[in-house]
Amino acid sequence: MLFDFDAMPHGNRYKLLVSCVVPRPIAWVVSRDAAGVLNAAPYSFFNVFGEDPAVVAISVGPRPEGSAKDTLANIQATGEFTLSMVPHDLAERMVITAADFPPEVDELAEAGLSTIASTKIGTPRIAESPVAMECTLWKTIPVGVHTMVMGEVKAMHIADEAVMNAERAYIDTPKLDLVGRMHGRGWYSTTRDRVEIPRITPAEWAARKKAAE
Ligand SMILES: Cc1cc2nc3c(=O)[nH]c(=O)nc-3n(C[C@H](O)[C@H](O)[C@H](O)COP(=O)(O)O)c2cc1C
Repeated sequence: MLFDFDAMPHGNRYKLLVSCVVPRPIAWVVSRDAAGVLNAAPYSFFNVFGEDPAVVAISVGPRPEGSAKDTLANIQATGEFTLSMVPHDLAERMVITAADFPPEVDELAEAGLSTIASTKIGTPRIAESPVAMECTLWKTIPVGVHTMVMGEVKAMHIADEAVMNAERAYIDTPKLDLVGRMHGRGWYSTTRDRVEIPRITPAEWAARKKAAE
C-alpha cells in the first residue's frame, strides 16, 4: 500500500515512521538547568553520525501544549548533557523517567536511580547504566516542531566486564543486554536474538554465483 506523505496528517506520518523504523536505540539523557537541578528522560529519535568529531543526535519534540521539553531547554542553557544506554534490567525504570512529572519532582529519585560525576563536563551520568557518554552541544537544527540536538561525545564510560580489549576498543556488546524501542507507546525489543551475516567482497560474490551455475 502506498502512503503519500504529502496527503497525510502529520500524526499518521509519525505512526508510520515509528512503527517501521525499529528497533530504535534509546538515549537516556541527563541534563541540568542553570540552577543545577537534574533532569532525566529517554529519547529514541537517536543515533550516531560520525566519529571525528564523534557526533550523536537526538530529536526533541514539543510538549503536547507546545512548550519545550526540559531536556532541550537545559541543553540549550548549559551546552552539555550525558546520555546512557538502557539495558533490559533498567528498562522499566527508564520508562518512569519519561513520565511528565512537574519540574520539582526528581525523576531519577522516583526511578530509584543514582548519578555519578562526569570527568569532562559538569552534568553527571546514570550510575546504574553500563554505557554512558559525556557530550557537549555541537549544533541544534530545527526539524519542524522538533529540534535535533547534536552532541559531541567527549568521553565514554563502559562497564569493565563488557570491555574485552581496551586498547583495540573491543566491546562485548551482547553482555550489555541493551533494549531498543519498537512500535506504539509501550513496546521494546531486547538485543538477545542475533544473526551473523558476514560481509563479502565482489570476488567472493562472483565465486558464489559461479558455484551456483
Ligand atoms: C522510550 C522512549 C523514547 C522517547 N523518545 C522521545 C524522542 O525521541 N523525542 C521526544 O521528544 N520525546 C521522546 N519521548 C518522550 C519523552 O521522554 C518525555 O516527553 C519526557 O517527559 C521528556 O522529559 P523532559 O521534559 O524532562 O525532557 C520518549 C519516551 C520514551 C518512553
